[in-house]
Amino acid sequence: MSKIELVKEYLMNVIKQEKVKKGQRLPGCREIAKKLSVNKITVNKAYKELEDEHILYCVPRGGYYLVGAETKEELTTKSIDFQTVKPDPTLIPYRAFTHAMNRTIEEHKKALFDYDSPLGLTALRETLKERFEQDGIYTSSSQILITNGAQQGIYLALKVLFSNSSSSGKLLVETPTYSSVLNMAKHLNIDCIGIERNAQGINLEDLENIFKTEAIKAFYIIPRHHNPTGYSLLEKNKKKIVELCYHYQVLLIEDDYLADLGTDKRTLPLHYYDTNQLTFYIRSFSKTFIPGIRLGAIVVPSRFYDSIIEQKYLLDISTSSIQQGALDFFIKSGMYDQHIKKVNACYKRKLLKAKAILTHMSPINLSFHVPKQGLFLWLTLPAQVSVNRIIEKLAQNNIRIGSSSHFYITDDVEQKQNLRLCISGIPEEDITALGTVIEAIKYEMHH
Ligand SMILES: Cc1ncc(COP(=O)(O)O)c(C=O)c1O
Repeated sequence: MSKIELVKEYLMNVIKQEKVKKGQRLPGCREIAKKLSVNKITVNKAYKELEDEHILYCVPRGGYYLVGAETKEELTTKSIDFQTVKPDPTLIPYRAFTHAMNRTIEEHKKALFDYDSPLGLTALRETLKERFEQDGIYTSSSQILITNGAQQGIYLALKVLFSNSSSSGKLLVETPTYSSVLNMAKHLNIDCIGIERNAQGINLEDLENIFKTEAIKAFYIIPRHHNPTGYSLLEKNKKKIVELCYHYQVLLIEDDYLADLGTDKRTLPLHYYDTNQLTFYIRSFSKTFIPGIRLGAIVVPSRFYDSIIEQKYLLDISTSSIQQGALDFFIKSGMYDQHIKKVNACYKRKLLKAKAILTHMSPINLSFHVPKQGLFLWLTLPAQVSVNRIIEKLAQNNIRIGSSSHFYITDDVEQKQNLRLCISGIPEEDITALGTVIEAIKYEMHH
């Protein structure tokens, strides 16, 4: 028996004796090499052979895992939620943020308990101005308004642009897009038109045609880590989109809700390419930080500045000063950057694991996109497969996945052969539940 076979036999025994369960990681090369007194390269070759035999799958820099998902019995005891878009609960900095709140109240005393300006806390707006500059957003702090989450930023922009009876024109959205925006448009009686968003981005010829033939007033767009697809636009596309918007005098509502997830400084927001004050630029502190503090910010083109402040005042007078003060302290002390590094590393590990599972287990007619950074996996199923039946079946196994129909303007069934799976809120070890998702898809494909 060769040394490689010896290692394989040892590993197969570990598996047979159920010392490692389906979806779990096998011991590292070094550990096995030491135990069996063989070279690490030999162990690696044995692992590779077991991978080729589809017994294991490899997560780059993450080790080897046993193929397959947890059993039904194992899964029925806990619920796995791929539907809700929320941060990993283990990453929420409860203690550090409580400390920041206490320090802020101590420092500002009564000042934070009074009404504040609808614009938001001056100190936070100045801090954000500097921070935004590092991300390629050049503005003055007087053009930044603090909002109750990105959600309020989007709502304010839509309200200011579309609620005036003299303001005609339609809203262009990507299809698919963030469902709440479609609901807001409905609520505000705004006519929406869609343009397809796919892996390549947006077709610029189609965009120009829409601008030529329709009265588009504003374009709501999520350039990076798009919700729901997870795609990000290429830089050359971004520049061209801004040029076209300028040419046809279309305003941009740029939702950069996951800007902090981008560590690559070469990727820039649309706002960077806009030298003509066309862009309402929106940020969030929810998905990478704490959704419950309800903080976001909007950079407003100067000519809409007064109307936005008026709307913000009418809605809720101002955003809570205590939360703003604590966020300002958190950013200035460097704790925010440290936190973001941790979040980025955690989501990257989850995505790598998800990619390895999907690459290994997916049937050929299932197409999937796993980004390098972000929150979403986007699966596209063949036309004959019932997405709803898969969702129902998975729900019986306590795996929650939402239908994709609410990401679209129309009821065109063909568009909706997708599943969006959000990995951020799932514990790292439960990403293996993707195995069960794939099995459910395969079952549906063959019945
Ligand atoms: C694309 C997008 N924009 C904005 C929001 C709202 O973010 P916030 O919690 O900051 O209001 C969400 C929330 O899921 C989102 O997915």
